[in-house]
Amino acid sequence: MNQASEAVSLEVELGPVRLPNPVLVASGTFGHETEMAGWVDLTLLGGLVPKTITRRPRRGNPPPRTVETPCGMLNSIGLDNEGVDYFLQHQLPKLLELGCPVIVSVAGEDVEDFVELASQVSRVQGVTAVELNISCPNVAHGVDFATDPQLCYQVVHRVRQACRVPIWAKLTPNVTDIRPIAEAAQRAGADALTLINTCVGMAVNWRQRRPMLGTGTGGLSGPAIKPIALAAIYRALEVVSIPIVGVGGITSAEDVMEFLITGASAVQVGTANFFRPRVTMEILDQLPGLIRQLGAQGVQELIGTLRRPEGSA
Ligand SMILES: Cc1cc2nc3c(=O)[nH]c(=O)nc-3n(C[C@H](O)[C@H](O)[C@H](O)COP(=O)(O)O)c2cc1C
Repeated sequence: MNQASEAVSLEVELGPVRLPNPVLVASGTFGHETEMAGWVDLTLLGGLVPKTITRRPRRGNPPPRTVETPCGMLNSIGLDNEGVDYFLQHQLPKLLELGCPVIVSVAGEDVEDFVELASQVSRVQGVTAVELNISCPNVAHGVDFATDPQLCYQVVHRVRQACRVPIWAKLTPNVTDIRPIAEAAQRAGADALTLINTCVGMAVNWRQRRPMLGTGTGGLSGPAIKPIALAAIYRALEVVSIPIVGVGGITSAEDVMEFLITGASAVQVGTANFFRPRVTMEILDQLPGLIRQLGAQGVQELIGTLRRPEGSA
């Protein structure tokens, strides 16, 4: 870091959660434990969201599970994980030793599942928050709680009563209008929204007349979805006042600035970790300089300072 950047404060507040900086890593793109430790100083991250866990172990979807697309990738991993008991015993303790905030991502098949998982995880000393993955597009027969305001309200409300730590509700962009769902999550007691999970997409091998993914469709991520993520944040902020964690297509400090100015209080970097494993370190290095360019002394004062166009909806 250069000298001019030393005075810049990167600390951010998301309701009850205080993070050392706004650069987190997104669930599913950084392993379950410390797989990335060879590339990244994990202690410098603003936060780490490990791969979503479920109550029982899941083998995930049939391969192929990933395919590269222009400016992005499709995945249909299908929540492959060892289940909550294994996570609590073997994986979470290693993450908590790192000293960077850990936000545990959980997904249930029904409301009771979510309640049980969130309450179990939140009883572990040191967990910063629970992220409810109510938006995974790749799980066969899974109910997508974030496509319906009432379902979203139900699950967040029930989890709120059972969970001892702040709740971040991760929403899907695969809806006509994200605003009623964002509003329902806030009304139900979510402490923050994570926007966005992947966008439903598909790739086709026309010679074989087959979809490229084993499940047919999958979730699109990477730079291709950045405009969709920004628009989701912009729209959601018309109806909510809780903090937003922005995710989708971030590959640089400039991207992070776009999210912060639009109104995200923090961001998560996902797909970019695959093709530039040190991307979060690069971003952290460059962010203070960009904040200074806007004459600010800290991240917090820039959040949501977007000048909305006159008469914009
Ligand atoms: C291979 C892969 C696996 C993912 N697994 C999860 C997951 O387990 N839980 C979750 O909430 N999101 C998962 N996501 C979505 C990311 O956390 C993120 O919301 C999305 O990829 C958009 O960010 P990006 O464009 O920076 O990747 C996954 C994404 C990818 C590419």
